[in-house]
Amino acid sequence: MGSQSELALTGGTPAVAAQAPAWPVAGEQEAAWMAEVVRSGKWSWLGPHERAFCEEYKAFIGTRYCLCLANGTVTLQCALQAVGVEPGDEVLVPALTWVATAQAAMDIGANVVFVDIDPVTLCMDPAAMEAAITPRTKAAIPVHLYGCMCDMDAIGDIAKRRGLRIVEDVAHQHGSQWRGVCAGALGDAGSFSFQQSKVLTSGEGGAVTCNDKEVYETCFALKQVGWRPGNVEEAPYDDLVQGNRYGHNYRITEMQAVLLRGGLSRLPEQMAHREESAAYLAERLEAAGGPLQAVKRDARVTRQSYYCMTFFFDPGQAGGVTRDMYCRALAAEGAGLGATYGVVYRNPLLNLYDRTSPIPYRDAAAVQDYARLELPNAERACAETAVLMSHTHLLGDRAYLDGIVAAVDKVNGSLAAVRAHFEADSEARG
Ligand SMILES: Cc1ncc(COP(=O)(O)O)c(C=O)c1O
Repeated sequence: MGSQSELALTGGTPAVAAQAPAWPVAGEQEAAWMAEVVRSGKWSWLGPHERAFCEEYKAFIGTRYCLCLANGTVTLQCALQAVGVEPGDEVLVPALTWVATAQAAMDIGANVVFVDIDPVTLCMDPAAMEAAITPRTKAAIPVHLYGCMCDMDAIGDIAKRRGLRIVEDVAHQHGSQWRGVCAGALGDAGSFSFQQSKVLTSGEGGAVTCNDKEVYETCFALKQVGWRPGNVEEAPYDDLVQGNRYGHNYRITEMQAVLLRGGLSRLPEQMAHREESAAYLAERLEAAGGPLQAVKRDARVTRQSYYCMTFFFDPGQAGGVTRDMYCRALAAEGAGLGATYGVVYRNPLLNLYDRTSPIPYRDAAAVQDYARLELPNAERACAETAVLMSHTHLLGDRAYLDGIVAAVDKVNGSLAAVRAHFEADSEARG
C-alpha cells in the first residue's frame, strides 16, 4: 500500500479515490418515450419528438428557428451555405478547434484561412480575425471552445463593419450566454453537435439555430434532399416543396430526438452544478497558488455550460516540469486533466484534401500554405500552456472536487520529484 503523501506516479496512493461521474446520462422519461417510439413505427422524417425538440430548443436558445441534422459537421456545412458561402470564398476559422470546423468549410469548396487564438481563452482572437480579412472573405466561424466564449462584442462589431457573415460553432457550449444571449443566437446561424461527449447528446446529431427565414429554409433544403417547407411561418415542418438547392440526406431519427428532449430537460440544472463546481475549483486553486490556474471567466459571459473547464499552465512557475509531465502526474493521482486538440492546420487530414476531395473548385494557389503556417498563440497553447478538464468531473460532488484539489496540491508540492521521475524515465529509455 503506497503512502498518502508520496506521488502516485512513484507508487503512492492516488489522491482521488472516486471515479468521475458517468456520462452520458439518461432517465426514465427517455426510456418510456423510446419504447413508445419503437412501437409507433414513426422512426424518422420529422416525427413528433423531433418537432417537439426543435420547438423546445429554439425557445431555450432564443431563436426563431431550429432544425436537427445528422451531426455537428454537416450543420456547419449547411449553415455556411445558407448564409451565402460559395466555392472559392474565404472562411476564417480559428487555429484551434476540432478539425471538422475547417472540414465543413472545405467540403463546400471554401478556402479556409486560419486565424490565431487568444492565448488564454483559446478562442479566436478578434484582432487576428480582422487582420485576416481580404476582399474574398465571406464568413467567420467563431468557435466557443471548451470553457470560454469568444469575444462576441468585438467579433460582432468586425462582422458589421466589414460585411462578414457569422456562423457560431457552438458544439461545446449549449446554453452558454454572452450578456444574457445564448451562443447560437449571436450571429447569422448557430451550429450545435450532439455527439456523445457533448453536454447535450443523442450519441450523434446536430442542430442549426437562426433567426432568418431564408437561412432556415435553405438549411432545411440542404438537409432534406432539396425539399423545404412551403409556408415556414404557418408550418415550419410541413407542406414540403421541392426547391432549387442541391440537398442531401442529413436527417436524424426519433430515437435521437427522444434523447435530446430528455437531455435538454436536465441541462439547466447540470449547467448550474458545473458553474458552481468550476467557481469552487478556480477559487481553491487561486488560494493555493501554483502553476495551474483556472482561466478567469469574462464578466460578459453570463452563463457558461462548460464542455470543459479551461486552465492555464504557467511553465515559468513549474520548476522545469512541463505541462505534459504535470498532467501525467495528475492523471496518476486520478485527476484526469489533459491537453487540447492539436493546431488544426497541422492535422494530417488537411494534407489529404487536395488529392482526395471531390470538390473541384478549390484553387490551391489561393489557399493559405498550411505546411508553413505558424500561429504562435495556438502553437504555444497546444504544446505548453493549455489544460482542460472534461465537464463530467464538474458534475462531481464536493468530496470529489476536493480530491482533485488535493491531487493538484500534491503535485505542486512535489514538482522536483515529478521532474526527477521523468528525467530518470527518459534516461532509462536512452
Ligand atoms: C468544436 C467542434 N466543432 C464541430 C464538431 C463536429 O461535430 P460532430 O462530431 O457532431 O460532427 C465538434 C465535434 O466534436 C467540435 O468539437
